[in-house]
Amino acid sequence: MNDVVVARALHVLAVVIWIGGVSMATTVVLPALRRGDLGPNRLQAFQAIERRFAWQARTAVIIVGLTGFYMTARLDLWDRFRSAEFLWMHVMVCVWLLFTFVLFVAEPFILHRHFHTWATAAPGVALAWLHRAHWVLLLLSLVTIFGAVAGSQGRSAF
Ligand code: HEM
Repeated sequence: MNDVVVARALHVLAVVIWIGGVSMATTVVLPALRRGDLGPNRLQAFQAIERRFAWQARTAVIIVGLTGFYMTARLDLWDRFRSAEFLWMHVMVCVWLLFTFVLFVAEPFILHRHFHTWATAAPGVALAWLHRAHWVLLLLSLVTIFGAVAGSQGRSAF
């Protein structure tokens, strides 16, 4: 096994843990939470789950970025960012930037402060908004994974 194979395997493993978690949060945890199935204190239940998953997601995002840029440098793939044929490469980096912003800036510095106040005043509306945001991020990630797997096999999906 060479270094690029290891980097690719770690890249995909981290994507599985990260986007698998987003999928679980979107399709299982948030619907149960919104219905009150995880207890009457929906905000407390949400924070208990989110606190634990946020660190997994942050670690996975770091690994995806490091391995992704490592492969790009090692295989000298920088030219791909100048070609529309490799749109899937741009999309991977954009999704990564978006999640990096959400997990390292928006969540700890903006959401943490304001979401708590909002969710205490209007938990139904706040959780519905959060659920919708998760659906957008999940769909974007799934399209990216589809495009990246097809693209790395030489078949452009978009
Ligand atoms: C900094 C951001 C990223 C960089 C620089 C990056 C770079 C790369 C590179 C160089 C490859 C190998 C391409 C090839 O074999 O021709 C790759 C593959 C892949 N990436 Fe990324 N990536 C990034 C983020 C992401 C994200 C956010 C996702 C998913 C949400 C993702 C999913 C994948 C998948 C599924 C593959 C295909 C693996 C395979 O089929 O072997 N990547 N990435």
